[in-house]
Amino acid sequence: MSHDSADATAIAARIPHDFTLGVATSSWQIEGDSRSRGRSIWDEFSETPGRVLDGATADPACDHLAHIPEDLDLIQGLGVDAYRFSFSWPRLLHEGKGSVSKKGVDTYDRLVDGILARGLTPFATLYHWDLPQALQERGGWLNPDSHKWFADYAFVVAEHFGDRIDTVATLNEPWVSAFLGYAAGIHAPGFTNPAGSLEVFYRLMVASGHGIQALTSAGITNPGLVLNLTTIIAEDDDVAENATIIDGLQNRIFLDLLAGRGLPQDVVEATQSITDWSFVTQEGLTMAEEKISWLGINYYTPTRVASTKADAGKIVGQSPSVYPGVTGVSFVPRSPRTAMGWEIDATSLTTTLVTTEQRLPGVPLYVTENGAAFDDVVAEDGIHDRARVEYYRDHISATLDARDKGVDVRGYFAWSLFDNLEWAEGWTKRFGIIRVDADSQKRTLKDSAHFLTEIFRSRS
Ligand code: FCB
Repeated sequence: MSHDSADATAIAARIPHDFTLGVATSSWQIEGDSRSRGRSIWDEFSETPGRVLDGATADPACDHLAHIPEDLDLIQGLGVDAYRFSFSWPRLLHEGKGSVSKKGVDTYDRLVDGILARGLTPFATLYHWDLPQALQERGGWLNPDSHKWFADYAFVVAEHFGDRIDTVATLNEPWVSAFLGYAAGIHAPGFTNPAGSLEVFYRLMVASGHGIQALTSAGITNPGLVLNLTTIIAEDDDVAENATIIDGLQNRIFLDLLAGRGLPQDVVEATQSITDWSFVTQEGLTMAEEKISWLGINYYTPTRVASTKADAGKIVGQSPSVYPGVTGVSFVPRSPRTAMGWEIDATSLTTTLVTTEQRLPGVPLYVTENGAAFDDVVAEDGIHDRARVEYYRDHISATLDARDKGVDVRGYFAWSLFDNLEWAEGWTKRFGIIRVDADSQKRTLKDSAHFLTEIFRSRS
């Protein structure tokens, strides 16, 4: 037996019977066929020169909509229980509201029926960042009516697919939409407006609450939300205060709202020269604490903070500009790191799960994304992505460690099924367990896909 097989068998033996294993993707990153839908903010952004590293745009991505049956066969072949995907809002409602696209509904009927026909459980996300451009033109998430648009869209999805789907997340990583989109400007819609980013964070959480209510009213029984939470590590004593605020902006602002504790006071104080938070209302706070049936955590790396000026090279998404109100810090990931510049530290995943359960007790958790980008080498006899195999080995184990510590974590999803459009990094960062060649659209299983299959299939 090879080392990998022995590792896979040992991990499989630790996985409880009712634990959900899956793979994840999102609409804009894989679908292609942008002409059959309305435009999204990511079309606008990616078609603006200089915004996406290699100039990649929505087409062809993984041309997934032209390959639904084959792609679902690949997923089934991995031996997973579930498939996490997202609906494209502008594919179902071209202008974001108003008439529902019949073609869009047909597309997702084929997808959802195909998932079910293969014995897989769909884990759907309503919003994985592809806001209809028509709504952006009305102010996007800064519009005080944005929660109404979102609730109406949630209702449409529940009405059409609720007979076949139970598990639906409202938002994927509202932190990224707010702070990368509106503060750092490195994601669509590309604004550098720190006050706006804090308002967008709040409006997204209010919208999520309305979305949960709309889903539930249309019969969805298992509505949830997905956040990118992580462990913040202060490298020196003199950065401890800033690290606490970073933890506030990254983790606590979301968990405190959900737990009914309102906005964390230290974050409000640290940001008072940026915003007076006058957009917050009691009604909004009550909405934002609407009960979710589960919380998804997307985890990739810890955030290691130092006060000294350090040049750690490019670290995607880690810079002071993503944390309004925080100055005088630098980000100092340790080695080993992935191609994103992200430190690899599986123990921080365990810590993140443990801390999240303490901050939001009683809500079942899922790791809804976890994985790594590396510069893969395509050899004649395969893609031997050893570092990714090790990443999965250690992070699935770390998830199970949290369970051993009593955390109610119920599933794990690998990001990602495919190499795909990694947002502003385009095709330059590859997260797939399956390689996709953008020109030929050929799919090739990497060693990590074989390793995960071995884990998934050797469960008793
Ligand atoms: C997450 C996103 C996902 C992917 C991974 C690498 O923040 O949800 O779409 O880009 O990061």
